[in-house]
Amino acid sequence: MNRLTILLSCCLFLASCAGGSRTYDLIPYPNSLEPRSGEFNAAGAPFTCDPQLDEAARNAVGRFAARLTATSGQPSEVSEGASAREGFLFVYDSLQPAEGYGLDVARHLVTVRASSQRGVLYAIQTMKQLLPVAIYGEGPAAETIAWTMPCVRIEDAPRFAYRGQHLDVSRHFFTADEVKRVIDIMALHKLNTLHWHLTDDQGWRLEIKRYPRLTEVGSVRHKTMVGKEWGTYDNTSHGGYYTQDEVRDVVSYAAGNGITVIPEIDLPGHMLAALAAYPELGCTGGPYEVWGRWGVADDVLCAGNDKTFEFLEGVLEEVMELFPSEYIHIGGDECPKVRWEKCPRCQARIRALGLKDDGEFNAEHYLQSYVMTRVEQFLADHGRRIIGWDEILEGELSPGATVMSWRGSEGGIKAAKMGRDVIMTPNSHFYFDYYQSRDVENEPLAIGGYIPVERVYEFDPSFEGQLTPEEASHILGVQANLWTEYIPTLSQVEYMLLPREAALAEVQWCQPDNRSWERFLGSLSHLTDIYRARGYNFAKNVFGVSATTENNTEKGCVEVTLFTQGDAPIYYTLNGSEPTTGSMRYTAPVEIRTGCTLKAIAARENIEVRPYSRTFTANKALAHPIVLNTQPREKYVYGAPETLVDGFESDFTYSNGDWAGWFGDPMVVTIDMRGASYGSVRLGTLVQKGEDIFPPLSLKAYVSEDGENFTEAGSLDIPMETAADPEGLKSYTVTFPETSARYLRVEAQTVPEIPAWHGAHGKKGYLFVDEIVVE
Ligand code: ACM
Ligand code: ZN
Repeated sequence: MNRLTILLSCCLFLASCAGGSRTYDLIPYPNSLEPRSGEFNAAGAPFTCDPQLDEAARNAVGRFAARLTATSGQPSEVSEGASAREGFLFVYDSLQPAEGYGLDVARHLVTVRASSQRGVLYAIQTMKQLLPVAIYGEGPAAETIAWTMPCVRIEDAPRFAYRGQHLDVSRHFFTADEVKRVIDIMALHKLNTLHWHLTDDQGWRLEIKRYPRLTEVGSVRHKTMVGKEWGTYDNTSHGGYYTQDEVRDVVSYAAGNGITVIPEIDLPGHMLAALAAYPELGCTGGPYEVWGRWGVADDVLCAGNDKTFEFLEGVLEEVMELFPSEYIHIGGDECPKVRWEKCPRCQARIRALGLKDDGEFNAEHYLQSYVMTRVEQFLADHGRRIIGWDEILEGELSPGATVMSWRGSEGGIKAAKMGRDVIMTPNSHFYFDYYQSRDVENEPLAIGGYIPVERVYEFDPSFEGQLTPEEASHILGVQANLWTEYIPTLSQVEYMLLPREAALAEVQWCQPDNRSWERFLGSLSHLTDIYRARGYNFAKNVFGVSATTENNTEKGCVEVTLFTQGDAPIYYTLNGSEPTTGSMRYTAPVEIRTGCTLKAIAARENIEVRPYSRTFTANKALAHPIVLNTQPREKYVYGAPETLVDGFESDFTYSNGDWAGWFGDPMVVTIDMRGASYGSVRLGTLVQKGEDIFPPLSLKAYVSEDGENFTEAGSLDIPMETAADPEGLKSYTVTFPETSARYLRVEAQTVPEIPAWHGAHGKKGYLFVDEIVVE
């Protein structure tokens, strides 16, 4: 969107709000909203509820009336009936879609039309967002407030039937009450599915009567790694599990909030906690320990042992008793095959089934497909369906499986093309365990990555041009995942969810034409007022200053556009000092021509956010024209080539958009130096050996006057990384006699073969580059 359309849409939006004394700050925004003039006074208003609405729907109405009574301090009585002249009227309307509702707020009468409990619940959530935030408080509002709602007519229904949030309770345990608080957060955002990740290597959290050791032994790990210090442990036990009564209580609480709970029993990998309890289920027989570190364990369930299937069926029988959901998630992700390759029983099963390597997948992949399909069949016999992570596409996809696409959207697209149902949870947009700010030093420790609210918001689940409408109809919906390796407390769970959950909600709920980042951002402060009223811990980054940068090659500068939520004024400094309201006021993009530190704040009354800060390195190539002579890997192009000369040297997160990653080919770029005099090139790179990211093996500079005939100016050989070398940001400099040749070509050799000491030996290495500093 250009600036003019943003301005116009803001004007239209303000005009559309003029009808009431308050604005229609609704997230997720409804399908259609028609403002009307006047207000409805809710305090003490009587409720009339159609007896044709089912019991769950009527209960929801009763709870809303009770909350209004408690917070307004004036009693709202509920009576039965299908018509009313005043107050709130909830009527059964068979024409409303399963999760849809109609809401008509007039001066004396509010009419809700719905055909289901969920329709009623969503109408109530909408009304609560239209009422004063005190409706979300606990008990009577302290001050006298006007309990009014602006008049409006709304017709609403969600875009996707599956609107999920995942919660990992294995890496860190959260009590049943804490899980209920997450359910409240989901309900506020009109989500309808909790994907409850109950089992993993680091803890089994579900009581299974037939296998008591799963919780006696499998729910406790005796140590946990400290931060990201692999090999250092806290030597403190961490445990916890849900009794079956607690599970029933959580499932029922969720149902009352219109939320289905889908349990995940992750198999056949991520099973170390179960193996610690029942070592005979592993290929080696153990002994095993509940894992105290993060990652992917090599020990998995033995697929050659019939006891494994007896165990899984025994567990799943109890799971089905506890969870009425149609779907059961059976995992399938990250299952190494190294034990199966050596296990006589697994190999005997491979032979008996006639499984073979076929060039694309090997026999062990097909063995995993066999496990998934056998479990699927067992569940199908009991009327249930399975969901699996996208690894279940490897080998042969089980016939009725729904695919949860997490390693990007590619797996989901592939499955949809096969006519299979898909849930999109790509780690490019919906991994809420990733950082939501670039200022990682001041954020709680997270697993990595960078997914700010705007990234969540921009996800387009249409896949136009990639999927036909028929294929796209297999996308059941979208979900965010919250893995909790680095999330030990509920408060931090809230922080990682909020406000990204709000952006997720719009992706899940809104029709494409109703999505608007500007409208969303403008309404977000009302939603965060609600978070405050509910006592939720939320990230405040959107209320600080964010920036986009663009190289202006004509002016030879980097233009930094600063923005913030709402219309708070922005102040900035360029000398690294802390900005105040006495600093320069931001009115137009800041032009960066030399090394400096830009700091900026948004001046607000009631919210403190860390200043935006970015240091630009002095670089004679800053914002000069640059072209790629070799392409980075498609997935890792990000902002290249411009980001290579934007003055910004990034942090350790290769996927934050500042880096570009080459693989196989060398990195070769050409910069137009435009008459500058220079004598060195420094290449900023990253070494992250676990991700196969290596330094280059050489760095060469070539110069040319005509851009066609280049001569070598300087060359540097770089030794191959050893196992003992530390990881981190590493730069390499090649120097040469000062020159003012117009064109500079920089070439860096990628690792053609990862050395023997590394797990991925023999494969190619990645080279990630964030900046080419010319001096
Ligand atoms: C996953 O993130 N391992 C599904
Ligand atoms: Zn085995």
